[in-house]
Amino acid sequence: MMKKFEKKSIFYEYESPEQLTNSEQELIREAENAAKNAYAPYSNFKVGAALFLENNKIIQGNNQENAAYPSGLCAERIAVFYANSQYPDVAIKQLAITAFRGEELVGMPISPCGSCLQVLLETQRRYNTPVEIILSGRKKIYKAENVEQFLPMNFDLDSLKGGN
Ligand code: THU
Repeated sequence: MMKKFEKKSIFYEYESPEQLTNSEQELIREAENAAKNAYAPYSNFKVGAALFLENNKIIQGNNQENAAYPSGLCAERIAVFYANSQYPDVAIKQLAITAFRGEELVGMPISPCGSCLQVLLETQRRYNTPVEIILSGRKKIYKAENVEQFLPMNFDLDSLKGGN
């Protein structure tokens, strides 16, 4: 008999940055500043990402577009790959993301794309440390405790080994 099962994701919602810790508010500001330096002449959608590392460093990333569209890259992967390349032994603890449509900060938060989520999941498993994700918009801020909240049915390497 077929059985239905449910996988739940949990997100926290805030009305304003003051409801978050000072360091989280700073990370959001870093993401906003990062977004301003994006190179997004084709979409005019400027995304900013800021990572808080276990060594207390903050790493920024923003989207970099290209006339050959698929050659560009998202803000989140630029930040994560840079952090992992510079600090290969340091876990990423938090990620804040925001974006501007033209000059205007988005009202509702934006979520990382599927490819960025897959990369974030890899980083989380590599360092065995959950990456908290903060999505910031003018009207709302969302927070998740780890990447799995966005990818509840994800590929696990154990499947390759046949150990499951
Ligand atoms: N983009 C990001 O940088 N991060 C996301 O999570 C979603 C999309 C970029 C890619 C492209 O440069 C622009 O936003 C519009 O899709």
